[in-house]
Amino acid sequence: MRLTVIGCGYVGLVTGACLAAAGHEVYCTDVDRKRIDQLQAGQVPIYEEHLAEVLERARAERKIFFTAEASEAIRAGEVIFICVGTPPRENGEADLSAIDRVARQIATEARSPKLVIEKSTVPALTGVQLVKALAAYSPPGGVKFSVASNPEFLREGTAVEDFFHPDRIVVGVGDGATASTLGEIYRPILERRFYCPVHAGLCPAGPPAEFLVTTINSAELIKHASNSFLALKISYANVIADLCERIGADVEEVTRAMGLDPRIGKEFLRAGLGFGGFCFPKDLQAFIHLSARVGVDFEILKAAERVNKQRIDRFFEKIHKALWVIKDKKIVVLGLAFKPDTDDIRFAPALEIIRKLLEEGAAVHATDPQAIGKAKLLFPAVCYHEDPYEALRGADAALLCTEWKAFREIDWERAGQTMARRLVIDGRDVYQRKAMQQLGFDYDSFGRP
Ligand code: UGA
Repeated sequence: MRLTVIGCGYVGLVTGACLAAAGHEVYCTDVDRKRIDQLQAGQVPIYEEHLAEVLERARAERKIFFTAEASEAIRAGEVIFICVGTPPRENGEADLSAIDRVARQIATEARSPKLVIEKSTVPALTGVQLVKALAAYSPPGGVKFSVASNPEFLREGTAVEDFFHPDRIVVGVGDGATASTLGEIYRPILERRFYCPVHAGLCPAGPPAEFLVTTINSAELIKHASNSFLALKISYANVIADLCERIGADVEEVTRAMGLDPRIGKEFLRAGLGFGGFCFPKDLQAFIHLSARVGVDFEILKAAERVNKQRIDRFFEKIHKALWVIKDKKIVVLGLAFKPDTDDIRFAPALEIIRKLLEEGAAVHATDPQAIGKAKLLFPAVCYHEDPYEALRGADAALLCTEWKAFREIDWERAGQTMARRLVIDGRDVYQRKAMQQLGFDYDSFGRP
């Protein structure tokens, strides 16, 4: 099938590349001409594991094309995936202006009927607005559009793996024909007919993904409800961690036992600095906003958000307790990205931590395997190091903010020899207190005695 992808952020690129790998012909476009130039030149503008390989293969097989001309991309595909950003406005509501702009482009440029699919994370009832917008912007006697919602559940860092091995594919549609078109698009994924870069073509057998056909309104709600529930789970684990500290219990023991109950599940119960990234914080806000707008008070989500914001304060309490005075101390931030295996620093806890450290007059040093370039633009006053051991030389304290493998594997005996003071505050509960203490470190983490 010929598909168009509008928006070449991580969702658009992964969607386009993986659907091309599944045998479709994909035409991608973006308003950012520089990004399209890079993609046309064979460069991958974001760090996402396996994406470069999938794109390379699709390009070689002439299954994926990039153009800065939206009209060209719109006319090429029978089905159009809208993958543009929906950033938060100041009041927390999602900014849908990019979707509106794209709807206008599609309505004016299309020369044949199109199925238009919302893939961007959008608040419920956007589909209804999209149908109206396409009709309003169409010239008299214009082509026919159908609309569907196909939320993505891709995690940054493992987005390619997630796309190829979904646990569910949700399609919100208004009619049976649209459901069958989406079924055709995803058939190669459901039947595993693609080259998998993660398992070198030999994916382990697993339960088949559920292909769920719902209404458009339900599909939109499923996305927000899922992300918000996961955020809620993390905040719940973080409150348990605080409680553990007060009563001398161990949050790892507690959450491990909780997670063994299949009704609870073991995922997303890791306590620490809380959630960041461009999805959970903004989706939570947008969901709270949407609920309020339709007269439902989603108090529980407001609490989850509050708990998450307080993680940084709790971390600073630990820093103050251990260091007493922060001013003029060399403090090393290990990890800038909001989570490992991505260069994305949007809403990363590390940013807020750096901001506060600088405010208090610390000499801030930082390291990250992928995100230094992006952080430099925000915090030019920070001293960046590629090598964590270099960063730690002469440090008064190390703060673990992102649990990259490289940081999990730090040889603290070696690092400790060059630090001014052996102090580690672990924001991701990665290291073992006993082992750190045996190496002569002052060590603190979340919720562990
Ligand atoms: C999240 C969802 O997991 C995806 O299913 C969804 O498609 C995506 O948002 C989206 O809406 O596009 P992502 O933001 O990439 O994916 O990252 P996650 O792996 O979910 O982690 C989010 C944050 O929660 C990270 O800062 C992570 O460090 C934190 N986290 C995660 C915890 O603090 N504790 C945990 O137990 C798990």
